[in-house]
Amino acid sequence: MIRELVLKNRSYRRFKQEESISTETLYDLIELARHCASAANLQPLKYIISNTPERNERIFPATSWAGYLEDWNGPEDGERPSAYIIILGDTTISKNFFCDHGIAAQTILLGAVEKGLGGCMIGSIDRDLLRRNFLIDERYEILLVLALGKPAEKIVLEDVGPEESIKYYRDAEGVHHVPKRRLKDIILEI
Ligand SMILES: Cc1cc2nc3c(=O)[nH]c(=O)nc-3n(C[C@H](O)[C@H](O)[C@H](O)COP(=O)(O)O)c2cc1C
Repeated sequence: MIRELVLKNRSYRRFKQEESISTETLYDLIELARHCASAANLQPLKYIISNTPERNERIFPATSWAGYLEDWNGPEDGERPSAYIIILGDTTISKNFFCDHGIAAQTILLGAVEKGLGGCMIGSIDRDLLRRNFLIDERYEILLVLALGKPAEKIVLEDVGPEESIKYYRDAEGVHHVPKRRLKDIILEI
């Protein structure tokens, strides 16, 4: 059910790092993204995959995690993603990627959830570092990093009113809470 998948598809930031993700699985996920909508059907997105400790270590230092959790610096060794997909925009195909990468990213994450995995879109990237670490040619814009793994944290959604905080937080039990605006507050009565 799509609703079930969407609700389960949270931004997971702690994983069972020892549970590896095969190259075939990553290809399957990108195969989903390949069929997504694309502005003018230009399909300018390209992907780099990573699922070995050596490659993953070239990505993790370039990522920033959960800005609202001020006393948490991101996943510790042992709970880090076991794979990544870097989404690039090929500027020789288009200079404007519209929302292609958002659509692709969400599709990949939904596919991951269906496989019992989970992940997080990372837009806060040290792009210079990542470019250097993979010798990514200047023709490619680094758009998003998708961190993937077997989730090792509990996440709950809660509805909030317009005056309440939208900042996610972690409670004393380590449960991650994600506030979402109510339906009646996001559909305009115009
Ligand atoms: C475009 C985009 C960029 C994001 N970048 C980051 C990021 O750099 N680091 C991070 O920890 N989470 C990042 N997130 C995840 C959001 O923080 C997350 O979607 C939000 O807290 C709501 O949680 P949910 O995805 O479980 O609904 C990003 C999400 C989106 C859509």
